[in-house]
Amino acid sequence: MPFCFLVWPSMAFQMNVLLLGKGTLFVLFCVLVAGEGRHHGFRRFSQLQESKGSHVCEELWFTQKLDHFNGADSRVWKQRYFMNESFYKPGGPVFLMIGGEGPANPAWMQSGSWITYAEKLGALCLMLEHRFYGKSHPTVDLSTDSLRFLSSRQALMDLAHFRTRMGEARGLTNSQWVALGGSYPGSLAAWFRLKYPHLVHASVATSAPVYATLNFPEYLEVVWRSLAAENAECPVLVKKASDTLVGFLKDPTTFDNITKDFKLCSKLQIGTEMDSAYLLETLAGNFMDVVQYNEDNREFEGVVGGNITIKVLCGVMADTSLGDPYARYAAVAHLMMDTFSLKCLDVSFSNYTRDLSNTSWHGPAAGGGRQWLYQTCTEFGFYQSTDSPNQPFSGFPLGYQVMQCAAFYNISAEQVAEAIAQTNEYYGGYNIRSSRIVFPNGSIDPWHALGITQDITAELPAVFIKGTAHCANMYPARSQDLPQLSLAREHIFLLLQQWLKQ
Ligand SMILES: *[C@@H]1O[C@H](CO)[C@@H](O)[C@H](O)[C@H]1NC(C)=O
Ligand SMILES: *[C@@H]1O[C@H](CO)[C@@H](O)[C@H](O)[C@H]1NC(C)=O
Ligand SMILES: *[C@@H]1O[C@H](CO)[C@@H](O)[C@H](O)[C@H]1NC(C)=O
Ligand SMILES: *[C@@H]1O[C@H](CO)[C@@H](O)[C@H](O)[C@H]1NC(C)=O
Ligand SMILES: *[C@@H]1O[C@H](CO)[C@@H](O)[C@H](O)[C@H]1NC(C)=O
Ligand SMILES: *[C@@H]1O[C@H](CO)[C@@H](O)[C@H](O)[C@H]1NC(C)=O
Ligand SMILES: *[C@@H]1O[C@H](CO)[C@@H](O)[C@H](O)[C@H]1NC(C)=O
Repeated sequence: MPFCFLVWPSMAFQMNVLLLGKGTLFVLFCVLVAGEGRHHGFRRFSQLQESKGSHVCEELWFTQKLDHFNGADSRVWKQRYFMNESFYKPGGPVFLMIGGEGPANPAWMQSGSWITYAEKLGALCLMLEHRFYGKSHPTVDLSTDSLRFLSSRQALMDLAHFRTRMGEARGLTNSQWVALGGSYPGSLAAWFRLKYPHLVHASVATSAPVYATLNFPEYLEVVWRSLAAENAECPVLVKKASDTLVGFLKDPTTFDNITKDFKLCSKLQIGTEMDSAYLLETLAGNFMDVVQYNEDNREFEGVVGGNITIKVLCGVMADTSLGDPYARYAAVAHLMMDTFSLKCLDVSFSNYTRDLSNTSWHGPAAGGGRQWLYQTCTEFGFYQSTDSPNQPFSGFPLGYQVMQCAAFYNISAEQVAEAIAQTNEYYGGYNIRSSRIVFPNGSIDPWHALGITQDITAELPAVFIKGTAHCANMYPARSQDLPQLSLAREHIFLLLQQWLKQ
């Protein structure tokens, strides 16, 4: 769904390719995390069986303009949305869940903390899928020319138009509309209130990276700290293993061993620095992915791999019976491959390039990878490079990430830098000036570094949740949730209740 993506791990990405290739009855849903993550590949996927009638929630369609900023262009397309009216009481608020960089998952129409709030407040629940993701296709393909119409500004205008028309059609024009989202959609929720205050009464902007930045080495620093919080030795062992592997990559006689150790699909070949960077990033991705979503409760979305936690990975890294740290690092890769049912690992940068360059809606990266990478190149950056010394990995520097903008979309490094500066100029970065926006953040979420970490004003409060990961407060409550997570959900509810009286 919409909420928290932002990472797009390549392991899950490979799984996507695999499943799509099988042409089964599975529908793939990326999960919503917002974050930004690594830019490629998919994060974890969920598989919901389509035809079982398991999701009662019907797909609905709304007509949008292709280009909201050109009055002379009247082309239109159909945007997907979902609605749950079960809790609505006349005069109640309207909750609008914002879709993000992946398909909108209808599982969110039946659970999640927002549903609990809706029940208590008599709210109508709507979820609008983001343009260019899921089934919301504004153009015939994903060519660079088509992707010109993909931007957060167009997406906000989609939301504004949807809110206006739905308000008119259903007599909800004067209702109090509340925008919600997590990760990138969390930023959209904040910006929707910021730019369209006449349409949005309040926003819940969970784990929202509101500051765009080209280089984002702090992400991996939080990964270090999150692993260290489990066990101080853990990130040290990861670093040792990663350093050993980097050493091996300098010596082609080790390539047969590396191929075997990590179950690569074909013999390792390192032609350029991009090849080694891609391999190192893919393996580091195992840790990045797990830290970002540690112990969240996404199973309800059908997400695979929810039981692989920081504790599990650090347990493998500490297991001396598996051999040296390098061998344990390989064991982590095997564990992830088993979890995602991958027989072998494809770390070929040229295959990755082939997949990301495919502009078909049926292409291997059309689930969101190609679109999100485009948004990072034209709006946000967020490149999780190894450029900081205070993190466990090495070998995928900023240059490797930015070069992909040129390779896949013909966008130069200068253009990327300029676009990011413009994003902050447009939205204000950390200096957001608005009211009635709450910013929940989790201490072990690597994205918190780009979020609002302190109350800006009483009207723009932050809610800090120690020990939780990306978007944790959005998931359905569980008995084993940390007390501070339950308190945060309650705190957000009280804020909403108070704001809806204003
Ligand atoms: C609305 O949510 C309720 C409670 O989770 C659920 O039982 C119902 O099926 C949902 N309706 C739709 C249309 O999703
Ligand atoms: C490959 O692995 C084997 C078994 O672990 C080891 O004996 C050998 O020295 C390794 N080869 C290289 C080139 O490192
Ligand atoms: C995670 O759950 C799967 C399926 O329930 C199980 O097969 C696997 O062993 C579990 N892994 C861990 C590390 O607990
Ligand atoms: C690249 O992808 C093809 C299939 O699409 C696969 O056969 C090949 O092994 C992959 N290359 C590498 C180096 O993994
Ligand atoms: C893009 O992907 C689709 C679906 O996998 C495939 O049929 C098509 O040949 C690919 N196009 C190119 C140019 O590789
Ligand atoms: C890439 O962009 C440059 C300048 O922005 C342009 O001159 C060039 O034609 C483009 N190349 C392709 C292949 O589109
Ligand atoms: C989140 O917000 C709280 C409250 O303002 C702040 O104290 C905390 O440092 C933030 N947490 C993180 C991890 O950024």
